[in-house]
Amino acid sequence: MLEKSNSSLYNIHWPLMTALDFSDRHMAEMKQNKYKLHIKEDYAMSIKEQFDNISEDYDKQRKQLLPCFDDYYHLPLSMLEYEGDKPKILDIGSGTGLFSSILLKKYPKACFTLIDISDKMLSEAKERFAGLDNFEYIVSDYTKHIFDKKFDIIISALSIHHLDAQNKRELFQKCYQWLETGGVFLNADQVLSPSPEIENNFSSIWRSQVENSGLANEEIQKAYERVKLDNPSTLDEQMHWLREAGFSQVDVVYKYLHFCVFYTKR
Ligand SMILES: C[S@@+](CC[C@H](N)C(=O)[O-])C[C@H]1O[C@@H](n2cnc3c(N)ncnc32)[C@H](O)[C@@H]1O
Repeated sequence: MLEKSNSSLYNIHWPLMTALDFSDRHMAEMKQNKYKLHIKEDYAMSIKEQFDNISEDYDKQRKQLLPCFDDYYHLPLSMLEYEGDKPKILDIGSGTGLFSSILLKKYPKACFTLIDISDKMLSEAKERFAGLDNFEYIVSDYTKHIFDKKFDIIISALSIHHLDAQNKRELFQKCYQWLETGGVFLNADQVLSPSPEIENNFSSIWRSQVENSGLANEEIQKAYERVKLDNPSTLDEQMHWLREAGFSQVDVVYKYLHFCVFYTKR
């Protein structure tokens, strides 16, 4: 919002500017960019901190926090078809490696790359896959990381909705570049309803399911804190950005309340 209103303010005044105005504007923009960078860095730190804190208990709470867990994680992966038995798989925002662990059953010989900003979440993944030599782990912000290879399959679950709209859009373009031709990008994520009324309904249904799931109140409150860092975009916006990125096939293969799975093919 802040970014949008400031840039449009500059755009409106731009044609009237003198050379002196230009240097003032330039300085203001530099300060503004520095400010934006701080906000983004603080935001990334909050994400890292929140997930570092929950890392040890993360897996235990999944089914209680995700009422549609089984279908959400299993159905879309069953759609993947890869000729051969060693696909190169990238899991972005892999956390403890939950989504990858399901895909591992389908492709036990695959080469997995797991990337996450939280070293503690990745430590849990390392423990989960201990002894397997077909896994590599990267502690990094995936919006900034440069990969030295391409992938056959990219998966992501419940991570990309933390990014703002522009970063999601740019990430989809990067995913397209990171994929081999014919490769698939499967993103199980949260979407925002374009209708505030429906969004409120989704949210209260989800909260009531979580509150009746048997999860301790303290854990529920922590989950509600993490929800404050969510930044979901609408399904339509994301379909548009995926097509814009160049994906030839773009569809939603599963949806329950605001939990949605996008299936896209390069
Ligand atoms: C809700 S967890 C999901 C973990 C896993 N994909 C799953 O389904 O269980 C979200 C994960 O995304 C990671 N994450 C969020 N933004 C990130 C970013 N910009 N770069 C790398 N990891 C990020 C968090 O650290 C966290 O581990």
